[in-house]
Amino acid sequence: MEEDRLISSSMKLEDFDSEINHIRPMNLSEYIGQEQVKNNLEIFIQAALNRGESLDHVLLYGPPGLGKTTLANIIANEMNVHIRVTSGPAIERPGDLAAILTSLEPKDMLFIDEIHRLNRTVEEVLYPAMEDFCIDIVIGKGPSARTLRLDLPKFTLIGATTRAGMLSAPLRDRFGVMSRLEYYQEDELIIIINRSAGILNVAITPEGAREIARRSRGTPRIANRLLRRIRDFAEIKADRIITQEVAWNGLAQLQVDPLGLDKTDRKMMLSIIKKFGGGPVGLETIAATISESADTVEDVYEPYLMQLGFLNRTPRGRMATVEAYRYFDCPIPKHLDQLQQQTFFSDDDEGEEM
Ligand SMILES: Nc1ncnc2c1ncn2[C@@H]1O[C@H](COP(=O)(O)OP(=O)(O)O)[C@@H](O)[C@H]1O
Ligand SMILES: [Mg+2]
Repeated sequence: MEEDRLISSSMKLEDFDSEINHIRPMNLSEYIGQEQVKNNLEIFIQAALNRGESLDHVLLYGPPGLGKTTLANIIANEMNVHIRVTSGPAIERPGDLAAILTSLEPKDMLFIDEIHRLNRTVEEVLYPAMEDFCIDIVIGKGPSARTLRLDLPKFTLIGATTRAGMLSAPLRDRFGVMSRLEYYQEDELIIIINRSAGILNVAITPEGAREIARRSRGTPRIANRLLRRIRDFAEIKADRIITQEVAWNGLAQLQVDPLGLDKTDRKMMLSIIKKFGGGPVGLETIAATISESADTVEDVYEPYLMQLGFLNRTPRGRMATVEAYRYFDCPIPKHLDQLQQQTFFSDDDEGEEM
């Protein structure tokens, strides 16, 4: 079930969890890592504050759990303005968006999560709102219908998405600032874990923090989730201190392996290998084997498996790599071994010619 899945993308409930909101950093100085994004934002925020203007529209994109929602709140906080929070799927009709926009105060921020899921007609209201700070409202129906132009306060839109590629070009073009969040380094995750442990009031050794960081897939949300689960083990089964051993045993119990793969990753890779002969397998088929949506497979599971070099996307479908066969201890089929060695050598040859 959903709550079993340590790396699932469902964060909607988490966004309202008070303990989680407690460990969410509130200002830029507490926001670990993402140095380039942070440095740029710092300058844009300072410049806007100095001029007494609203901030340019900001688009934050990157895989789930890397800190987009957190950063949006921090930006509003640093600008000292209110932030209204909504999401693409929540805004069903143009009128819904118009109601939100007309209720904003000057310099307020509007945060639209999953902005790639806005529907077309709603999106079209957003264009003039972002560019000229006005909206056209249609009053009446049929031949007597007329449009009324309403001026809006100068607000800042912050959009968040896991798929910048799915945004339409006109929408993308209207963002003055586009920031891409990257997976975190182990050392950054260690800082985040230590900070969260402090707030959660649980003792943790440096080795304990490193063990959790290593298995967090470069993702703060997963690091914090693992920490909270391991804390339970520490409280019940150990001396309330998260040592490396406690972390190790707890992670084994949670079935998170040394690379941070969980049951669902393993199920997905093993079914590609065993049921489908290593692939190619279509995305929808893979999604069905783990009872997830194709979107979740693409957003959450695949990026990390591809980064590990276990999965390839080909035009005909997904394929397990030789590395995946090795890691999961499965006999490598002859054709795959030869195929991948060939591609490997031909890549290499090209490199030498240069
Ligand atoms: N840079 C960071 N420093 C510290 N904690 C972070 C950072 N980024 C994210 N987090 C933590 O990770 C969790 C998930 O972040 P969130 O902003 O909800 O991710 P996203 O919106 O990108 O899915 C948050 O609860 C927050 O505590
Ligand atoms: Mg979010």
